Amino acid sequence: MKFFIDTANIDQIKEAQDLGILDGVTTNPSLMAKEGIKGKDAIFKHYYTICEIVDGPVSAEVLGTTYDSIMSEGEELAAIHSNIVVKVPMIKDGIKAIKAFTAMGIRTNCTLVFSAGQAILAAKAGATFVSPFIGRIDDGSWDGVQLIEQIVDIYNAQGYLTEVLAASIRNPLHIVRCAQAGADVCTCPLSSILGLLKHPLTDSGLQQFLKDAQAMQ
Ligand code: E4P
Repeated sequence: MKFFIDTANIDQIKEAQDLGILDGVTTNPSLMAKEGIKGKDAIFKHYYTICEIVDGPVSAEVLGTTYDSIMSEGEELAAIHSNIVVKVPMIKDGIKAIKAFTAMGIRTNCTLVFSAGQAILAAKAGATFVSPFIGRIDDGSWDGVQLIEQIVDIYNAQGYLTEVLAASIRNPLHIVRCAQAGADVCTCPLSSILGLLKHPLTDSGLQQFLKDAQAMQ
């Protein structure tokens, strides 16, 4: 399973990159706004900076919701850097645009996916990635990981090439369960990635080893 970081924060992207396990980045308009980025030039420059840090897919989301606006915006985003993947919402015009981008050789990430039916449409349109939002599903007291399992099963049964990108990750257990479910990619906040490191027996074991090592000196 590939690890993407789900942020537009440069320091966090660099910290995850320094770990040596980062395969890509996802952003969305909320994450970009959180960094205080305003205006087209600043937004494009920020995407370029991220692409120069991480040598992997970097999802940049279109803001338009009509076919024409998604297409023109997506083409501009894709021209920023070869790492850019155009993130397109799961709406009717979005599906049409994904189909057209695919024919043009532009990679896409179909976002805001909450059902298996939506994931089937994304795959039929040729999306490079499909992003089911598992944390937001859990927030409504459904099981988001069950949706990942269902989509993985369907894609395997049908031979769809779209990669299942588990998004809206809230904790390290989500990452573990998505890996078990067969997700191709997990996009995570830095805190969830670092949470995978934690185990009290690792900490107490290391303390004991360090203490015993001192006795040998
Ligand atoms: C990823 O592509 C999404 O933008 C992101 O994971 C959404 O996460 P959230 O539900 O925590 O906002």
